[in-house]
Amino acid sequence: MDLYEYQARDLFERYEVPVLAGIVADTPEEVRAAAEKLGGVVVVKAQVKTGGRGKAGGVKVAKNPDEAFAAAQSILGLDIKGHVVERVMVAAGADIAQEFYFSVLLDRANRSYLSLASVEGGMEIEQLAVEKPEALARVAVDPLVGIDAAKAEEIARAAKFPEELVSKVVPVFQKLYEVYVGEDATLVEVNPLVLTGAGDIIALDGKVSLDENADFRQPQHAELADKSAEDPLEAKAKEQDLNYVKLDGEVGVIGNGAGLVMSTLDVVAYAGENHGGVKPANFLDIGGGASAEVMAAGLDVILGDPQVKSVFVNVFGGITACDAVANGIVGALEKLGDAANKPLVVRLDGNNVEEGRAILNEAAHPLVTQAATMDEGADKAAELANAR
Ligand SMILES: Nc1ncnc2c1ncn2[C@@H]1O[C@H](COP(=O)(O)OP(=O)(O)O)[C@@H](O)[C@H]1O
Ligand SMILES: [Mg+2]
Repeated sequence: MDLYEYQARDLFERYEVPVLAGIVADTPEEVRAAAEKLGGVVVVKAQVKTGGRGKAGGVKVAKNPDEAFAAAQSILGLDIKGHVVERVMVAAGADIAQEFYFSVLLDRANRSYLSLASVEGGMEIEQLAVEKPEALARVAVDPLVGIDAAKAEEIARAAKFPEELVSKVVPVFQKLYEVYVGEDATLVEVNPLVLTGAGDIIALDGKVSLDENADFRQPQHAELADKSAEDPLEAKAKEQDLNYVKLDGEVGVIGNGAGLVMSTLDVVAYAGENHGGVKPANFLDIGGGASAEVMAAGLDVILGDPQVKSVFVNVFGGITACDAVANGIVGALEKLGDAANKPLVVRLDGNNVEEGRAILNEAAHPLVTQAATMDEGADKAAELANAR
């Protein structure tokens, strides 16, 4: 989960990373009040989960509350890379002498952490990496050691921070690493980290991505989730612990195991080419234990998507054998009753496949068609979706 800048700012403050005062506001009137409260020069900043807000006109300096009001009027409602601005942060204005870049992130390929730093901040880092790769220091961070004073110094030197600034940025790097580890983040990025005219180091913009796999030990992160921006079906699936991603097509897909579900998406998209171009409507992995409850929850989510015209259930019986899955499907259809109202194509294979097919045959549910293979099932499901 990515955080908004104001949420990152709040986290930074809690970890004693130097930040400036910031007040969130949803209307120009609130912005004016916030600017009055902060006093002096303020910066009105769009709160959207994408970078490059400055360039898009989403960051504006205001010398007084009236200017802040006008800035808010132009920023609220602005579309920045497909994100409509509904909220801004009014931040105290910084007297910027220099802009730097710092981040620490999960380096999956090397099974380690990585810190990136540069004295050329402000510019988008992807652009810097391409145009001036020599200006971007990359320093591996051993997760067992972390960013201690020695490592922070190594990063500052690798990024060619001027000698007199090294001792100033070292504690800031260390605190940002504490945020990274303490919050189970996969990314903590500050761009720009600035040097002010008064000689202070301040984090002016923050991007934090949290690792949702750690939610169990970070219960307070639930409050950071943006309920209004979440797809309601994805939220419902999450509540049921289902791995669900909504896509744009018409054929609902349920499978067990991420690999099988992904190949099912491919096969359905391919089959769809012969049936009016229908496409998969979602990714839903019900995992190993496909009990009636899990199957019902999965079907409930998929059938709740008005775009879905047919559903393809593609299960390979392994640890959970096909007879248990078949009972799960029958139980789920009973449980859902009239809520189950779209044709279902079921392909079972693997352990106890004969028993599983027999259970479905016996139940003879009018919505269920069985398919012997994955290709056949995908074709049938695409055909049914196209016919409705
Ligand atoms: N509080 C502030 N005071 C002064 N200037 C700021 C402030 N916040 C941002 N800026 C300026 O605006 C630029 C863009 O803001 P930033 O928060 O980095 O947004 P983004 O990265 O989305 O463009 C910064 O590089 C900085 O020059
Ligand atoms: Mg920035």
